[in-house]
Amino acid sequence: MTVPAIRVSAVTKQYGTLKALGGVDLEIGQGEFFGLLGPNGAGKTTLISALAGLVRPDGGSLEIMGHDVVRDYRNARRNLGVVPQELVFDPFFSVRELLRIQSGYFGIRGNDDWIDEILASLDLTHKADANMRMLSGGMKRRVLVAQALVHRPPVIVLDEPTAGVDVELRQGLWQFVRKLNRDGHTIVLTTHYLEEAETLCGRIAMLKAGKVVALDTTENLLHRFATHSLRVSVDRAEAAVALGGMAVEDGWVEFAFEGYDKLEALLARLREAGAGLREIQLGEPDLERVFVEVMHRA
Ligand SMILES: Nc1ncnc2c1ncn2[C@@H]1O[C@H](COP(=O)(O)OP(=O)(O)O)[C@@H](O)[C@H]1O
Ligand SMILES: [Mg+2]
Repeated sequence: MTVPAIRVSAVTKQYGTLKALGGVDLEIGQGEFFGLLGPNGAGKTTLISALAGLVRPDGGSLEIMGHDVVRDYRNARRNLGVVPQELVFDPFFSVRELLRIQSGYFGIRGNDDWIDEILASLDLTHKADANMRMLSGGMKRRVLVAQALVHRPPVIVLDEPTAGVDVELRQGLWQFVRKLNRDGHTIVLTTHYLEEAETLCGRIAMLKAGKVVALDTTENLLHRFATHSLRVSVDRAEAAVALGGMAVEDGWVEFAFEGYDKLEALLARLREAGAGLREIQLGEPDLERVFVEVMHRA
């Protein structure tokens, strides 16, 4: 049996009185494209920092490709590339120098062919000799991605790589990450763009206040909750609200329903209540809705 790319067992981490991680268990298989979602402060970055050996957990254990992050740190770290959430750089180095230094951390010399390949894939070739301080935020973000890849790690974790990044760069980045995944890399991604997580990730864990509150395939998550929506524009919004709808905007009321077999009955009740139907819109289940529902229930 192959080892999981990432195994997290009963991991806890406390900052003073704040429980950042309250016993997290996760197993991510090799080759997965996995999403780690949760509101700000849920513990995503803390968990990623623990995987990278930057934060020492109070309890539990973490493994990368079968290597314990604490006991077998060097091998664990060698198998992991992390794109951190924060943009922190030494501003005096050029992009290429930075990537050479990063290679040096992993004891890799003569890495320029691979560095050139990464730079080309990330459309950074023309910036290879630019100093970091000269780069825009989006460019810096790409360098962070390049930096995570210099040692060809099989497991790549991206902590909100597209925060504050324009749409074009975001799409370029996702294309690149998708290719890495197709080439066999395990990808773990945190993002606030749930639409992107929905299209990219095969499986998703949702974290809230340091706990995993949902863990399933994206497909199952989308269908587990009452996540179809019916929006109606009506003459008498109160009548629709009285049937369990939620007033969303001027004269529009939204209902959640489980499947299309429930739709007819819902419309009939609106008619019987004399709501005065003017217009309807149907919404497919989406991850945004599931996320809100999961966070609300947890
Ligand atoms: N070094 C630290 N010292 C004290 N509290 C911290 C530290 N790092 C994170 N926290 C707290 O731990 C919680 C989880 O933070 P974080 O892992 O950054 O969440 P996320 O990445 O999901 O937004 C937050 O309440 C945060 O304020
Ligand atoms: Mg974070």
